[in-house]
Amino acid sequence: MADGRLLRDEDYNTHFDPDAYVKTYYTVLDDTVQGGLFPFVLNGEHDVFKAGDVKGRRLLDIGTGPVPHSVIPAVPFVQDIYLTDFSTVNRKYLYDALFGSGKQDYSSIFNFFTNLSDKSQPWTKRSDDLKDKVRGIFPCDLLQDDIFKGSYFPLFDVITTSLCMDVAPPDVDTYGKIAKKISKYLKIGGHLVIVGAFEVTYYFLEEHKFFSLDISAGEVKSCWENAGFSIQSWNPMKAPEEIEESDFGGAFVMHCIKAS
Ligand SMILES: C[S@@+](CC[C@H](N)C(=O)[O-])C[C@H]1O[C@@H](n2cnc3c(N)ncnc32)[C@H](O)[C@@H]1O
Repeated sequence: MADGRLLRDEDYNTHFDPDAYVKTYYTVLDDTVQGGLFPFVLNGEHDVFKAGDVKGRRLLDIGTGPVPHSVIPAVPFVQDIYLTDFSTVNRKYLYDALFGSGKQDYSSIFNFFTNLSDKSQPWTKRSDDLKDKVRGIFPCDLLQDDIFKGSYFPLFDVITTSLCMDVAPPDVDTYGKIAKKISKYLKIGGHLVIVGAFEVTYYFLEEHKFFSLDISAGEVKSCWENAGFSIQSWNPMKAPEEIEESDFGGAFVMHCIKAS
């Protein structure tokens, strides 16, 4: 922690170790890690995409960070994937892992998804398909009016985002405003798949304590509905009694369609 305050914004360039994040939260995906939060998230994402109805040409992921799990179940159903993040450090880590000299191969995550779907194909097939479809890793700051800082995109068919809306907005009012900004990048009838936590104020990465927005499940739903979305599915989990890494009350995977 710096100065006793919770870390956020620029701290993602200075205090957030991407390798530690992936190893802490995404390497051992069984029920003992984080009370099953991350297996819950990956299962929930798989459930949204498995029927094949959530599809389209272009997918945008917001706040990918150092780990692309939120787009992996979508890979068979889209053609062009645009990844984004605030942090230069995370974007570089992700680039190196996917295309460069990075040692991280996300095998635990790919294996998790492979075990849920087509076991006849090795996890490396999905990984290769992802690499073929990624069109870039772009800067993004949800707190700016121009959230993609000068990158101009055509409208997207699918937008995914995981655990980013929890850390960027300082309050629920700003969360609602960001939902409206994100909505402008999606076609009418397009899909939003969002993973989030609720009733939470922090999470730890190593000794660093990061800010997380204390928002209720009801507030999450109404922010997205007020931004023009119709909720198709809401899959919640309640946090286990005691977890050292975070005080989160629960988490969710939500699928919405942009209605207006
Ligand atoms: C908890 S991590 C989530 C990473 C990944 N999506 C996941 O599901 O594990 C939060 C991410 O949000 C990014 N972030 C923080 N502030 C942001 C902002 N203002 N705009 C966009 N992304 C931001 C951070 O750089 C970090 O990669």
